[in-house]
Amino acid sequence: MILINENYAKLPSSYLFSEIAKRVKTYQDANPDKRVIRLGIGDVTQPLPPACIAAMHKAVDEMGSAATFRGYGPEQGYDFLREAIAANDYRARGADIDASEIFVSDGAKCDTANIQEIFGQKIKIAMPDPVYPVYVETNVMAGRTGRCRGGRYSGLVYLPCTAENNYVPDLPTEPVDLIYLCFPNNPTGSTATRKQLARWVEYARANKALILFDAAYEAFIRDPTIPHSIYEIEGARDVAIEFRSFSKTAGFTGTRCAFAVVPKSCVGYTRKGEAVSLHTLWNRRHTTKFNGVSYPIQRAAEAVYTLEGSQQIQATNDFYLGNARIIRETIAEHGYHLTGGVNGPYIWVRTNKDSLNFFDRVLQKAQVVITPGPGFGLCGKGYIRISAFNSRENVEEAMARLRKVL
Ligand code: MLT
Repeated sequence: MILINENYAKLPSSYLFSEIAKRVKTYQDANPDKRVIRLGIGDVTQPLPPACIAAMHKAVDEMGSAATFRGYGPEQGYDFLREAIAANDYRARGADIDASEIFVSDGAKCDTANIQEIFGQKIKIAMPDPVYPVYVETNVMAGRTGRCRGGRYSGLVYLPCTAENNYVPDLPTEPVDLIYLCFPNNPTGSTATRKQLARWVEYARANKALILFDAAYEAFIRDPTIPHSIYEIEGARDVAIEFRSFSKTAGFTGTRCAFAVVPKSCVGYTRKGEAVSLHTLWNRRHTTKFNGVSYPIQRAAEAVYTLEGSQQIQATNDFYLGNARIIRETIAEHGYHLTGGVNGPYIWVRTNKDSLNFFDRVLQKAQVVITPGPGFGLCGKGYIRISAFNSRENVEEAMARLRKVL
């Protein structure tokens, strides 16, 4: 008899964004004449930067000639991309990261989901609330939690992120081993200061804990005082793994390229207390389970770091931040408390109403898709998330429709 992984029974029946897509499809099927505007899932709409397209075309041509054809590449990514990442994303910001510490992958979703495989079953996990559901659900699937009651899984240490702490979690009041942090934050759009990150690094160092730092939205930071990487904080390279993605940075949601940084000085421990390199473990996992991102896509990602490429992505991301400003202003006009949308593409709005009802009302009456806050955790109750990823025309139209509904 084939037994199933019964931990799956603890999960909601579908993943947040699949559930929303299902509801939107049902509405659209019943109302084919209505034009729905999607400000729900954070999916980019602007085309890839011309520098990336040119690099991808050239790489595709190389694949068409025996002299330049490439088969399997290194699982960890080609050196040309790993070197460009280490130099531009890290060393240029004073962070001591070597190309050999970069693992190129097909997405930060997959990386943040898979990383838990290299940790023990009995670890105590600190989970911000609200949070990107992938962090929670992959630990549920792996059996590190009990059941979900009242919106919270037993076994996790939740860190509430509320208006009171400016949506940046406080240190836990009980010992934890693994800490998920995401800045600029999904879903709240909040950012963490150097001082706040330094406290987390200090905590991790003092407690032999590890920080998983998701920096997928780093390219939207405009405030020069906000760190782009956890490795800008002294001592972080011994206690933190960082995740980045070209998805939101450069429009690669459909193209797929991302990376994880696992410094060689980062360690975990055996039950006997012996230190083990997490870089070695992740390299073992990655080489066994992953065969690399395709060559043309890695060449396209490399082009992000050219002068033209970096200017083009900056212009596109400024454009999305312009959308965010329009959304913020419209929502604020109606007296709602909101955060985000300044150094990140998401706006987190306190509606003080049932979030699912609010979602349904906005869909039915304005044909605009938003994300109900409780999909990100209990602290999302009464909130909604609005994404700034869309065309200017659609954002303006969506705001005009929302004005009539709010
Ligand atoms: C989101 O909307 O939260 C993101 O697009 C999800 C993701 O990046 O997987």
